Order: sequence, then structure tokens, then C-alpha cells
Amino acid sequence: MLSVRKIGVLTGGGDAPGLNAVIRAVVKAAFNAGIEVIGLEDSFDGLLDPSRTRQLQPSDVTGILRLGGTILGTTNRGNPFEYPVGGPDGNTDYSERCIETFSKMKLDALVVIGGDGTLQIAHQFHLKGMPIVGVPKTIDNDIWGTTSCFGFDTAVAFAADAIDRLHTTAEAHRRIMVVEVMGRYAGWIALHAGVAGGADVILIPEIAYDLDRVVARIRERESFGARFSIVVVAEGAKPHGGDVTVIESARAGHVERLGGIGAVVAKALQDRMVKETRHVVLGHLQRGGAPTAFDRVLATRFGGKAVELLTRGVFGRMVANNPPDIVPIPLADVVGKTKTVPLDYDLLRTARAIGVGFGD
Ligand code: F6P
Repeated sequence: MLSVRKIGVLTGGGDAPGLNAVIRAVVKAAFNAGIEVIGLEDSFDGLLDPSRTRQLQPSDVTGILRLGGTILGTTNRGNPFEYPVGGPDGNTDYSERCIETFSKMKLDALVVIGGDGTLQIAHQFHLKGMPIVGVPKTIDNDIWGTTSCFGFDTAVAFAADAIDRLHTTAEAHRRIMVVEVMGRYAGWIALHAGVAGGADVILIPEIAYDLDRVVARIRERESFGARFSIVVVAEGAKPHGGDVTVIESARAGHVERLGGIGAVVAKALQDRMVKETRHVVLGHLQRGGAPTAFDRVLATRFGGKAVELLTRGVFGRMVANNPPDIVPIPLADVVGKTKTVPLDYDLLRTARAIGVGFGD
């Protein structure tokens, strides 16, 4: 079995509250196991350029548990297998250079903390023989194989607080407020924040909406005397027979950027209801700030488990939350899949039972 003495750690993709908590746990657990840790900056870019690496000791991670962002930096633009370099073809494969740097730095293993895109890259490196343990990260909660990801709880808490604030102004002005939240092609944030914030209508990518049904739900509320309504819309929501609303289409090295559906729904509702409607896009505020206690604990458990796995020589795995345990699952099982909200999810059924409309 490979004896692990020196490891690299990197954070990739969009940031999420709790990344620093994972780094801290990895550094402290590794140090106590006699393993040296090298931090790689800006995702896999740190393996393209050794000057973007630094040794991490427990003193370097003291005080970062509660900090959002990542002390290592991150990017969702730097896939070494398709590195965006401009020019006619757009991309170059730098993966061999990363593998060379990995051996020149005498790293024995790599902890890769990231979302679906980053874990896909990790899996490709694992297939090329690099010993890797993956740690799932995303506010979207859409990584297959783990019941939860750190960052999600923080994003939901922020969005629920925002919805609370919108309630008072909506009520004061008798308006419809439409709140657009993140989540890409999964409705986890919209559903959880919507229920936590007492939304009247929640539109999620898993359920195509019909505007007539949304209007009917709001009219029904008005018939009971309610003079305002709160509509939560996931950025990936789409109407029956329609498509997602996109800010920027996909191109070489860049995934499509979703956004704008909140404005579309607000305009349509204002026209149909003849009632003042405003929309708010929570955007990257959902990714900022300090992680909640739940996310700090989950992130710490993930970091600790990652180090435990690599000391046992278990590679090509992602640590996953499978309550009450954190378990290793093959990266091969995770990549290329998206964990969307199941239509038989009890929270969906309960939300319907208490009168939330889903536009279907
Ligand atoms: O995956 C996390 C996420 O915040 C999504 O919810 C959102 O669509 C996307 O990242 C935004 O990414 P960017 O940082 O490129 O704006």
C-alpha cells in the first residue's frame, strides 16, 4: 500500500460556505497523522504552475473555520483537460503537465474539493493514475450520492431570511414579490428556502410550470383576503413546453449561465394580474458569508474522512453524507449525474398539502 507522506489540496468550481472548514480539517488531521499538506491555488491551476502552491500548517488555517470563500482561491474556468487558451480551437489539454508537476512536487495524493465539474476532472486524473479523494461541495445540493453538501444549509438560511424580509414589504405595498434563487438544474434551494420562508408559489426545474396555474393560486389567495404573494423561482425553472432562461450560452470551457427567469415571471404576473409586481435576484449573496454551524460540522466531517481514506490507501472515492455516517463512494458512480428533487420527495408532498403552488 502507498505510504502517504505529502498531499495536495485544492478547491474548484464556484465557492461555497464551508470550503475553508474542509481545508482546515484536512490540514489539521493530516498534520496530526504526520502528513505534509501543500495548498494548490485556484483549482487545478496550482498544478500547472508550481509557484501557485504553498505549504499549509495548522497555524495557516487557524481562524478560517467561520470564513466564507476559500483561502486557496477557485475557478470554474480551468479544466486542465480542456484549458481555455483562446485562439481558433479554444482549448488545450494540459493534463500531462499537471501529472508531471504532481510527481515533481513529490505529492502522494490529492484532496479535490469541488462540485460536479471539478469531481469530473478529479475522476479523469484518477483514471490516469493519480491517487485522489474527492469532497463534494455546492450550494445547489445536486451532487449525486450524498444526501447533503456543505454550503446548501447556509444558502437556504440566507434565502429564507431574504424571503422573510420581502414578506413585510410585499404586505405593506400589496404586491407580488418574485424571488429568483440559484440551484442550476435542481430545485433544492428554491424548495427548502421557499418552504422555510413561507412562499405561496415555488417554481422548480423538476416541475414545468403553467402561468395560468400560478395566476390561479395567487387569485385563490386573494379570494381568502391575502393582499400580497411571494413567489420563489429557481434559476433553472421553465414553463411547460419552454426552456430555461439563459444569461450566457455554453461555449468552450464555460457552462451555460442561467438567470433571468425571475424577471420573466414577474413581468408575466404583473401583466396578467394587473397588480404591482417586483422581482429580486439573490444571486451570489447566497454563496457569501459565514457557513452555518451545520455546514461547518459537515465540512469538518468531510475533511476528516478524506484524510482517513488516504491514510488507508483508499482512492478514487468521494466522501458522501449517508446519515449517520460519512462514507466513501466511487467517483465513477458520481460523475455525469445530477441529483434533482425527486417528485415523491416528502417535502414536496407536504408543501402541496399546506397549499404551496408549484404551477402544475
Ligand atoms: O453551482 C453553484 C452556482 O452558484 C449555481 O447555483 C449558479 O448557477 C452558478 O454557480 C453561478 O456560477 P458563476 O460563479 O459562474 O456565476
